[in-house]
Amino acid sequence: MICYQQMARKDLRGAKVLVTGSSGFIGSNLCTRLLSEFGCSVVGIDFITPKFAKDDDLQSLLTGNESFSFNQIDISNGKEVEDVFKQNDFDFIFHLAALANPRTCKQDFGLAFNVNVVGTKNMVESSDKGSRLVFMSSAAVYGNPLKLPLSEAHPRNGNDPYSISKIMGEDLCLCFFNNYEHDICIARNFNTFGDGQIGDYIIPTLIKQAVMEHKIEIWNSKPIRDFMYIEDAVSAIVTIAQQGSAGEVYNIGTGKGTTIGSLASTLRNAVDQKMIVNDMEKQVLGSSELVADSRKLASLGWRVQVRFEDGLRKTIEWFNHTNPVVAN
Ligand SMILES: NC(=O)c1ccc[n+]([C@@H]2O[C@H](COP(=O)([O-])OP(=O)(O)OC[C@H]3O[C@@H](n4cnc5c(N)ncnc54)[C@H](O)[C@@H]3O)[C@@H](O)[C@H]2O)c1
Repeated sequence: MICYQQMARKDLRGAKVLVTGSSGFIGSNLCTRLLSEFGCSVVGIDFITPKFAKDDDLQSLLTGNESFSFNQIDISNGKEVEDVFKQNDFDFIFHLAALANPRTCKQDFGLAFNVNVVGTKNMVESSDKGSRLVFMSSAAVYGNPLKLPLSEAHPRNGNDPYSISKIMGEDLCLCFFNNYEHDICIARNFNTFGDGQIGDYIIPTLIKQAVMEHKIEIWNSKPIRDFMYIEDAVSAIVTIAQQGSAGEVYNIGTGKGTTIGSLASTLRNAVDQKMIVNDMEKQVLGSSELVADSRKLASLGWRVQVRFEDGLRKTIEWFNHTNPVVAN
């Protein structure tokens, strides 16, 4: 019988690593850390090239760096994925590529299925028993909480297309762990924010409003989310990769809930205390409260390092430093 606890301790230093979604928000920050802190040899997969090219630090790390190579491929194409695996022998695989926006998944379920489910099948199928795979899932799988904070044992009641695609991705991982002895951990991420995040997510949207339009307009002040600054989220992913046990699920959350109203006030105070916050009191989609039980992650030695307010300040700085036109 295989003892997965013994297989659990892994060292990233100098490892050969694959990161899918390497041009995305979390993926590009993860690549940066793997290169700079662990001296990894990193292969990136994404179907777009790094998009926030104006970020000098990232740009210099990801371009012209002999330890980083990039494959512009679609993970739903099994043949292309297989070719990358044929050319490399990976110690770790961080599978982050996804159609990550629930609204886009709802608009095009076929695409969400191809990327998030077929793409995940291609990754787990191509990986072998010798490499550890960390699959990036989402707290969206929990659906409406029956009990807070949300522990990993909470039922997966999410039923929108994005949540379903992540549940299916998790099940594929567990299937390969249970039946083919693949060394796989699942990370259920709550709300990561920070440098490099663009698109219509709550924090970049509000920062853009505050900085460029000098107003903050929120749909509803009451929902509660568990926000984690990108540096801590990358540390959590790295911790799970090195310390996690195969076949286990780990929440990536701080355990601290913040209302959208409080987020708006903190942002206003950081940008201009006189700015008006307009609460539109609209009905919002999704859970009213998502807060992680983060004890399992903490049991691996991970701790929050960046306070929410400090993370927000750093993100505003990044936004100001980067051409804001990119961030829409
Ligand atoms: N950001 C969060 O707060 C959050 C919360 C929960 C879960 N997650 C998960 O974390 C992962 C990373 O999220 P993110 O915020 O960095 O999102 P992101 O959209 O910035 O990054 C995802 C990357 O995947 C790439 N991608 C999409 N389809 C692809 C395909 N067919 N082939 C190759 N690459 C493809 C995209 O081009 C993008 O660069 C995702 O799996 C997401 O579901 C993120």
